[in-house]
Amino acid sequence: MQKKNLSEIICRCNNINRETIEDAIKNGGCKTLNEIFDQTTAGVGPCGGSCRRKLKPLLDHYLAHGFFPEKIIEDLTGKQKK
Ligand code: FES
Repeated sequence: MQKKNLSEIICRCNNINRETIEDAIKNGGCKTLNEIFDQTTAGVGPCGGSCRRKLKPLLDHYLAHGFFPEKIIEDLTGKQKK
């Protein structure tokens, strides 16, 4: 089975990796996207927050289950249909 990659860059704008995000949620006490934005700067870069579709499922999974998923299933519900 593929191990999760903590060095995966989640927020390309601000170069924030998965380890930093998970740490902010697990040890930094972030329970909302806004708290993650404030603590890590992920999600508030010049692209307008395209990485939020990864931040949200990561956060939601942790809040629901108490651990992080192996694979991040991107939340595309906010994406516009063409
Ligand atoms: S990739 Fe995270 S704000 Fe742009």
